Amino acid sequence: RIEPERLPMPPGTLEELRQQAMTCTRCPLHCKATQTVFGEGPADADIMIVGEQPGDQEDLAGRPFIGPAGKVFDEAGRQVGLDRTQVYVTNAVKHFKYELRGKRRIHQKPNMDEVQHCKWWLERELDLVKPKLVVAMGATALAAVMDGRQRLAELRGQMLALDDDRMLLVTAHPSYLLRIPDEMRRREETDRFHGDIAQVADFQ
Ligand code: URA
Repeated sequence: RIEPERLPMPPGTLEELRQQAMTCTRCPLHCKATQTVFGEGPADADIMIVGEQPGDQEDLAGRPFIGPAGKVFDEAGRQVGLDRTQVYVTNAVKHFKYELRGKRRIHQKPNMDEVQHCKWWLERELDLVKPKLVVAMGATALAAVMDGRQRLAELRGQMLALDDDRMLLVTAHPSYLLRIPDEMRRREETDRFHGDIAQVADFQ
């Protein structure tokens, strides 16, 4: 008798995809990153949140959105009643791209080539999770989910129906909020972000 944990994994599961992504060498970003940071959350979630790429802390922990940007997202969720345990959270790019400055690892934006290569994983995640609502946080996520020609400012905050029956909501990236130096503007933008995430909570 084969113990359940020894049974071969059925093909086409999210867990199998995650295992495959751990050894991804589709683009050079895997060389410097600690590990692949794959999506996490229920495999049948109705909502999929897509960010840009893991940051420094996510790269070390191997989990998406657990660093400063993740805290902004979690706080927004807390304010508007979005239950993070019920949503699938992932990134357009699964490896941390950075440059070394002294001992610090400074985030670098992924280029469109890297986004295109990594899109293969995101598309498989979409195929398997089959979310009813996709939330693109930031321009990189938007480029990965759509074909790269749409402008974030034009789509921001609207529930858009996609051809494949899915809904898309485009919002700012939480790191953007952290970078706004002026406190009043940061508050305004944070309120706007909370408004967008409230629409996600309503969908839930
Ligand atoms: N920013 C992202 O886009 N994703 C993360 O996982 C962390 C920071």
